Parts: sequence; C-alpha cells; structure tokens
Amino acid sequence: MGDGDSSGIDRTGIDPDAVPHHVGLILDGNGRWANARGLPRTAGHAAGEAALFDVVEGAIELGIRWLSAYTFSTENWARAAEEVEFLMWFNEDLLVRRRDEFDDMGVRMRFAGDLDDPRVPERNRTIMRQAEEKTAGNDTLDLVFAFNYGSRWEITAATRHIAVAVAAGELEADAIDVAVVTANLYIPGMPDVDLVIRSSGEHRLSNFLLWQSAYAELWFPGILWPDFDRHHLADAIRHYQQRDRRFGGTAPTDEP
Ligand code: IPE
Ligand code: IPE
Ligand code: MG
Repeated sequence: MGDGDSSGIDRTGIDPDAVPHHVGLILDGNGRWANARGLPRTAGHAAGEAALFDVVEGAIELGIRWLSAYTFSTENWARAAEEVEFLMWFNEDLLVRRRDEFDDMGVRMRFAGDLDDPRVPERNRTIMRQAEEKTAGNDTLDLVFAFNYGSRWEITAATRHIAVAVAAGELEADAIDVAVVTANLYIPGMPDVDLVIRSSGEHRLSNFLLWQSAYAELWFPGILWPDFDRHHLADAIRHYQQRDRRFGGTAPTDEP
C-alpha cells in the first residue's frame, strides 16, 4: 500500500528539466482494493489517503509544479447514499487533519468544482475556503482538489458567465476566444495539463479536465489507487519523457 514510503525517488532516467509542469491524477480503484480484502468500499477510500499524501511529497521531490487530484465527480452522486455521505465526510476530515501539513510543505490548496451545489455540505465549503485562504501565499506546489467536479459542467458554467457578459454589453461575441473561455473556468490561471495518470487500469477520462487536457499525455497504470506511491509517479514521468509531444506539428527529426 502507498503508506508513506518516504525513501528518496530513484531518478534514473528522469530529466529534471523536462518534468511535466501539471499532472492530473484520476485516483481510481479504491472500491476494488477494498473488495479484494473483504472490506467495505469506504475502507478503500480511507486507504487512498496515504497514497495521495505520498504522491504529493513525491511531486514536490520531482519538481512538479501543479497537481490536480480528482476526488469526487459530478457523476459520483449516483453512488449509494452511504458511500456519498462517507466521501463528503472524508473529504472534509482529510482537509481538517492535513491542511497544516500541506501548508508546512509549501502547498497551495485549491478547489475546482461546483461548490454552489446545495448537495455539498456547508462544512465542506467552509473548510475548503479556509484551506484556500490559509495556503494562498504558498508556491512550492499548487494542489487542486477536483471535488464535485465535471468538465462538462465547468465548460457549461463558463459559457453562461460569458453569455451574461455579452448580454450586459461588457464583451463582444467576436472577442470570445480560447483565452476567454479558459479565463472563465474554475481556476482561471490553471496551466494546461501535461500528463494525466489514471490508476486502476481503466482507460477513460470520466469527465476530468477535458479542456485542460486537450494535449495531455495519458498514462494508465494497472495499479489500484491505495497501492500507488511516489515511485509509480516517477515511473509515469519516465514514460512521459519518452513521448514525442507534437501539438499538431511534426517531430523535430522528421523530414519536411
Ligand atoms: C475512486 O475509486 C475514488 C472515487 C471515485 C471517489 P472508486 O471508488 O471508483 O473505486 P472502484 O473504481 O470502484 O474500484
Ligand atoms: C472517476 O472515477 C472519478 C474520481 C476518481 C473521483 P469513477 O470510478 O467515478 O469513474 P467511472 O465511473 O469508472 O468512469
Ligand atoms: Mg472507479
């Protein structure tokens, strides 16, 4: 299990000048991890906390600047009421217990998602706001919790904001471009995602950072999230650095 193995990362094969600036993490497989042990699904979520903490430490060690972790999707409300209730409580409790540690590590805590949704408990909203304010001056790592997050709603909400600005005469429709849309997403200054890692072996994005990941490299390790740690992160970086990112152009070695 990713239980905070704090030994240094083996950097063999990793170019420190080419680590991804922004890594997106779809932490998946908690339920399967628990099922395999005859435990309730919620025990898998609890076990996933140590993995997340270890990966945050590993990201800092590797020089990653932004890390976005998918902790609750707009579709996860479809789960059994007791699992949803646990996840709401757990996300709040984790912030209460960990925010000082994150702060000491220089982590800026940020939140992306529909926090106006009345299904999100007030306690969660309050602790998220406090964590954001407390850590606003930190600049070692921006850690985004994608909570009650879904890309389709994020882009839909941005569209509404822009429509309101146009209707109010503050913006010309012709002036709407990629930068305007980006500026109306949950975190306007969030850089594009360079690498998306989804644990558990599923090969899909499940409505995670679709706009921001337009040119991300994708990595799908077949490891259940509670078993993931900083060494798996380093492994993902090694694979990322072997990719040929073209952004629609051609490889530098290609003949014209
Ligand atoms: C990911 O693990 C955590 C959340 C979605 C909150 P899952 O709970 O989806 O675990 P599996 O995919 O069922 O194994
Ligand atoms: C995506 O995982 C959401 C989070 C990790 C929070 P899911 O387990 O909910 O996604 P699907 O249902 O397998 O696509
Ligand atoms: Mg899942």
